[in-house]
Amino acid sequence: MTTENHSTHDAEQDARNDDLMIFVDGKIVHKDQAVVSVYDSGFMLGDGMWEGMRLYDGEWAFFDEHMDRLFNSCKAVSLDIGKTPEEIRALLNETAASNGMTSDAHCRLMITRGRKAKPFQHPQLSRFGPTIVAIVEHSRPATSLLGKGIRLATVPQVRGLPTSQDAKFNSHSKLNCVIACLQAEQAGADEGLMLDPHGFVNTTNACNFFIVRRGEVWTSTGDYCMNGVTRQKVIDLCRTNNIPVFEKNFSLYEAYGADEAFLTGTFGAQTPVAEIDGKTIGPHEGAGPMTLYIRELYKALVAENVAAQQAARA
Ligand SMILES: Cc1ncc(COP(=O)(O)O)c(C=O)c1O
Repeated sequence: MTTENHSTHDAEQDARNDDLMIFVDGKIVHKDQAVVSVYDSGFMLGDGMWEGMRLYDGEWAFFDEHMDRLFNSCKAVSLDIGKTPEEIRALLNETAASNGMTSDAHCRLMITRGRKAKPFQHPQLSRFGPTIVAIVEHSRPATSLLGKGIRLATVPQVRGLPTSQDAKFNSHSKLNCVIACLQAEQAGADEGLMLDPHGFVNTTNACNFFIVRRGEVWTSTGDYCMNGVTRQKVIDLCRTNNIPVFEKNFSLYEAYGADEAFLTGTFGAQTPVAEIDGKTIGPHEGAGPMTLYIRELYKALVAENVAAQQAARA
């Protein structure tokens, strides 16, 4: 069990990130000059969408899936990106190239409704087109988490019904998740395990959540959590490799008694969970055998996807 604080976004320190070049609205500028207006809809209201993607051998893994989610989310909130997915790929590639990156890089692509004419909420005040920012950092997820795992605490904050704010929106406003993370931290854990409105185990504040019980892999129904690209890849991998996988309701009772638990997200791929609410999960120190197996399958899938993208461009 660990007592230091961790997060699923722990990365190895890289001094090159002090001197990054960042894409801001058509220009690539030094980090110190990378700013947006105080009137920006994203800054003022959290009115925007984002995607996190990783660069492997010059390709953004699962680029089409990420663009699908981004364009769907923006359509749902009438946010016109004003670019095609290929134009987005080009600006990301240009930003990565400005930083001399081909692998081990992580981008946060952010699209907001843009600068507003006045400091008020109405979307019609955002009259100047979207703001597009891409931060691409040198990034190697810390491998120490594999041997330790992350500590979760169940928190009162839920990711709720689509009628409040659909959990599928990867929105700039992360206040719901930030509150959950604060609650977890105050309970002495690293990250928050969030339930759904009915009390079933749902997701964490930053990743999707899986348990392994008696050789089966379980995750929530998907109704109240982010439609994570990594989540879907893990489900697909289980299906193609004859690992029984279920998207279903389950409670903390089953989570506490799981043989293994792990989180999924683009940044950390699959991160083992060491404990939930102070209860140790499974008999393993760090990642258990199913988590490790799925990690290997996922790594191979990323390589396959990258090779397919390279072949399509050749
Ligand atoms: C709340 C939440 N859950 C899950 C994820 C993981 O999604 P993905 O696997 O697409 O990175 C994210 C990341 O954007 C997130 O913010």
